[in-house]
Amino acid sequence: MKKGILIAIITSLILIFLFIAFSNKGQDVDMIDFDRSVLNLDLAENSEIIEYPNISLSLSADIIKKEVNGGEIRMFGYNGQIPGPIIKVKQGEELEIEFTNNLDQDTTVHWHGLRLDNEFDGVPGMTQEPIQPGQKFIYKLKFPDAGLYWYHPHIREDYQQELGLYGNILVESSQENKKFNREEFLFLDDIQLYEGDVTPFYQNVVYQTLMGRFGNVMLVNGQEKYDLIVNEGEVVRFYLTNSANTRVFNLKIPGARIKVVGSDVGYYENEFFSDSVILAPSERAIIDIYFDKSGNYELKNINPLKEYSLGTVKVVDGQVLKDFSQDFLILDKNDGFSMFEQYSSKPADVELVLDIKMGSMEHGLMQNMDHGMHGGGMMAGSIDGIEWEDTMAMMNYGSTNKNVEWLITDKKTGKTNEDIDYKWNVGDYVKIRLFNDPNSMHPMQHPIHFHGNRFVVLSKDGINNENMVWKDTVLVPIGATYDIILEVSNPGEWMAHCHIAEHLESGMMAKFEVMQKEGN
Ligand code: C2O
Ligand code: CU
Repeated sequence: MKKGILIAIITSLILIFLFIAFSNKGQDVDMIDFDRSVLNLDLAENSEIIEYPNISLSLSADIIKKEVNGGEIRMFGYNGQIPGPIIKVKQGEELEIEFTNNLDQDTTVHWHGLRLDNEFDGVPGMTQEPIQPGQKFIYKLKFPDAGLYWYHPHIREDYQQELGLYGNILVESSQENKKFNREEFLFLDDIQLYEGDVTPFYQNVVYQTLMGRFGNVMLVNGQEKYDLIVNEGEVVRFYLTNSANTRVFNLKIPGARIKVVGSDVGYYENEFFSDSVILAPSERAIIDIYFDKSGNYELKNINPLKEYSLGTVKVVDGQVLKDFSQDFLILDKNDGFSMFEQYSSKPADVELVLDIKMGSMEHGLMQNMDHGMHGGGMMAGSIDGIEWEDTMAMMNYGSTNKNVEWLITDKKTGKTNEDIDYKWNVGDYVKIRLFNDPNSMHPMQHPIHFHGNRFVVLSKDGINNENMVWKDTVLVPIGATYDIILEVSNPGEWMAHCHIAEHLESGMMAKFEVMQKEGN
């Protein structure tokens, strides 16, 4: 056992060394910095809740500064806020958003998870042109499904989202029956700092593409320590969104029982109790917690390698207007998922393999290392198929979007990434198999996101999912096989991609086109 670990470490070190030697050779581009000055910038504000805006509102992406880890750094915020405004709407409503780009670079806004009209999906070069600095774009949003959504840029997410561009949209159903005393929106995030600023970003090259950019400071709603005061006996609903570039969170609140109510696009078939919630980049969770005893409850991110404190919920004596403690114990059900049973026995319509191509290694020395790696050399950091931390920072630093290409490959045709262009019809239910190849040069988990259409997870490694929920992102750990059923419902050209920002920048995206059936 010990010997195995030693071999793994040595193999890793050799690989790191070779990789750096290679990546330096291939790097003939001059890296162009972004402006990082904080001169004359306004301070970031806290997010405002915009409740049931009438018909329209305006939103801007602004350059601001914020104190993080004791220093002021240049960041971005929607309407000058981190997170951006929380927008609450009613299911079935429509909303026009007049968006202005006040950044020093192009951007777009993607309304993550919404089944909206294709032309407002915010994908540059696909649904719209990039919005240049000083320019405006009108987004017309639709909210057909109740649930928790979020918005973020779809250009250089690795930079823009990391700097603070993210906000929530809550779509409430018309029969909403609120069985909680208070609601709280939490963005789980991290930021990678170095000597008082973010680790450098470059305009013309994205790096840390191997692992993605793991932060060394945890943030909840842009703050290093989350703080909440509630009254003893309150049931609090938390709306959680992971806005990190690559980090998977495992949220725990020791001493508190978590009722898991919803996920990406709506509510679970069966609500359930759990002592933790795992969230991959872009995934959401809706949870209720009953704080029955006064005292301090710590919010923690606990993974197999590290433990972080994210903040505290302070429970004090106080008045509780309505007692929901009994409702808290009841686990509600939501139906509408039984139709998916029939798909378990059907073969997959398409099979996608998740893999990597490491450019310089193809012809180089590293190819010879290939066999050595499968023993776990490069997988040394993964536990349960997930890289919870950046266990190979050096190698990650040497990786760019030029020497690493992350791959989605269609098994039948051999097509990869943007060459994949499925054509499906409104009304189709497509069974998609996602396989994360553990024998790839560098296996890693991938949160795979589909735009504009929702899906359910049918099975994992052949075991049926007994508790369905509508999703837009599914985390596929190393070696895992997930079968999902995509409900094809929304016409237009859409993307499916990995939501690790650096993987997306390294090509990990496919396309699918949804056609209206004739006669419609
Ligand atoms: Cu939240 Cu294409 O992304
Ligand atoms: Cu990925």
